[in-house]
Amino acid sequence: MSDGGASPIGRPLDRVDGPLKVTGGAKYAAEFDPRALCHAVIVQSTVPAARAARIDAREAEAAPGVVLVLTHRNAPKLPKAGRAAVNPPAGREISVLQLEGVRYNGEPIAVVVADTFEHARDAASRVKVSYERTPAQLDFEAAKKDLHRPEKAGRSPPDKSWGNADKAIAEAEVRLDATYTTPYEHHNPMEPHGTVARWEGEKLTLWDSTQYVSGVRETVSKTLGIPAENVRVVSPFVGGGFGCKGSTWSDVVLAAMAAKAAGRPVKLVLERPQMFGPVGGRPRTEQHVVLGAMRDGRLVGLRHDVISHTSRFEDFVEPSAQPTRALYACPNGATTHRLVKLDLGTPTFQRAPGESTGTFAIECAMDELAEKLGLDPVELRLRNHADTEPDTGQPWSSKKLRECYADAAKRFGWERRNPGPRSMRDGNILVGWGMATATYPAHLMPSQASATLMPDGIVVVRAGTQDIGTGTYTVMTQVAADALAVPVDLVRFELGDTRLPKAPISGGSMTVSSVGPAVQAACTELRRTLARQDGAWLSAVDDEGRRSAFRALAARQKAPVEAHGEAHPQTEDEQQQKFASRSWGAVFAEVRVDPDLGIVRVPRIVATYSVGRLLNRKTGLSQLQGGIVWGVGMALLEESLLDPATGRYVNENLAEYHVPVNADIGAIDVAVVDENDTRFNPLGIRGIGEIGITGVAAALANAVYHATGRRIRDLPITLDKLLPLAENR
Ligand code: MOS
Repeated sequence: MSDGGASPIGRPLDRVDGPLKVTGGAKYAAEFDPRALCHAVIVQSTVPAARAARIDAREAEAAPGVVLVLTHRNAPKLPKAGRAAVNPPAGREISVLQLEGVRYNGEPIAVVVADTFEHARDAASRVKVSYERTPAQLDFEAAKKDLHRPEKAGRSPPDKSWGNADKAIAEAEVRLDATYTTPYEHHNPMEPHGTVARWEGEKLTLWDSTQYVSGVRETVSKTLGIPAENVRVVSPFVGGGFGCKGSTWSDVVLAAMAAKAAGRPVKLVLERPQMFGPVGGRPRTEQHVVLGAMRDGRLVGLRHDVISHTSRFEDFVEPSAQPTRALYACPNGATTHRLVKLDLGTPTFQRAPGESTGTFAIECAMDELAEKLGLDPVELRLRNHADTEPDTGQPWSSKKLRECYADAAKRFGWERRNPGPRSMRDGNILVGWGMATATYPAHLMPSQASATLMPDGIVVVRAGTQDIGTGTYTVMTQVAADALAVPVDLVRFELGDTRLPKAPISGGSMTVSSVGPAVQAACTELRRTLARQDGAWLSAVDDEGRRSAFRALAARQKAPVEAHGEAHPQTEDEQQQKFASRSWGAVFAEVRVDPDLGIVRVPRIVATYSVGRLLNRKTGLSQLQGGIVWGVGMALLEESLLDPATGRYVNENLAEYHVPVNADIGAIDVAVVDENDTRFNPLGIRGIGEIGITGVAAALANAVYHATGRRIRDLPITLDKLLPLAENR
């Protein structure tokens, strides 16, 4: 508590793990190096469907340095054929060498272990496979004739309707009916998935890059049929997750199996192309949106029907209609989710699943409707502002979306916009301004934490959560220091280990809202215990006084003093009976389009968010900015290109799978409105991990329309879709 004892909450504290990261001292999963470590490489199928893959490993086994080659023929038979942990969408259908056949191109079918990575890779190239092929469905359009209705869409039913949407739309004065599509996309954190597995007798240690250490322990122990207490998962640093490291995929279990078979520790790191298929990705979507409104702009009915792809063997649903159920006060609505099954790897959660793709469709549709009505796009949204959750009628725990529109519009200069398409120019360049609403649900899960005063005056605070690059170490240090009323340098936060108190997955933007209250509870408990002895540090007037009084108190202890905290706040179910909780934002974007070349540049984006309280202005705003950067990628660049003949993504590398680089990103100006949502969470926060990407693709598509008069409803907005643009000059 520097600044004369002011609370550290909200301050732009530098990352406490920053020095370790910039000096190389932060150890990532693949950098753990137990004695006698050997190296594993996965062999992938090269066909999309086969009844049998006949594997001839003789040449590979004879190659230099090879320890073993594991295939479905010699792999141990696992309980329930490797399916003991399957519980979609958390426990995935993975490929752990229990099947003779092939279910998608790129499926793991063998693992080669050797003394060096180079030897393993060389030997992997010598594994010969012949396939007894079966027909594969790789055509999304053709597969649409076999739509099926999944059991759930995210946490909700696949279909939800209120009022009578079709009747209301038929009676509406103005209608908008359009179909939007988003392509196959794949997560590409800088650090690919990586695991080091070591057995000591029956005890397994996994150093793994994961968003969920307890989840890895559960999946691996169940899949292998061993007690959970025999598995320890360690993950102190993660080089990005974004959803792909939220589930435990084949590679983690295969590393454990290979280490067991080899009798030596094994390292298994995915190569970049292996990120495109066996570890999820964003499903392709086709979204049909129908809006019916009265001339004054009031929505009277809406439909949002979503089709997304999944694999042949597991349902994963992209819940794109989820935002539409929450965004606008419309008395009649109908939303559905349907799946097409393709012979591809199962897709998964990818930053803001549902909301990223869904806001693209609904927020473009709102822009199109605004034009039909001759209304300003912001005004149309204000006229349909949802004061309560539309499909349930519940009040919001806190919502400051109106303030977001006003603040971002003002900072952007929206009132200077000429509403006509192709009305703004800078020399030859077409200038467009567009906007959209951002939204993401607020979640929380039970969590535990502990706080231990050490004799040197440091409080070690522990929770088995993860820092996937988001700043968990830093903000938990702030929460702990605030609850203890000590300077932040007296707190050391530890995470990323199943030996620590149990915490939930770092996904669904809920790490801070779930773990924060547990840390707060543990530290409050420790403070009470210590204050009963000597509360002198609490009345000190500045940081220096607090530090020395607290250290003196610590030095008098004969042993470490430990306290535990638990936050099973209100469970989400109880909480949801009273209030609906969601985060919101308004995104305004400027694009500049070259009419001859079709190139779209994004000089600036201005956004304001209603996300509850920000625990750290620096990491928080940076997180929102990062989400916007990904939104630019989603709008203009990202697309995994599927070869319809082979079922392989042909641009499975960062040279051809385009993501924004510095030169693609202009000024990104983000702000949050002052808010403290204590109805949702004792810390007043709602989570910021995912909302940043939402709304951005729509704001950019709307800006491109405004610049060019061309409505592109299929992402990404590449120049081939825009050209020719010169005809109206
Ligand atoms: Mo997030 S896509 O829930 O990791």
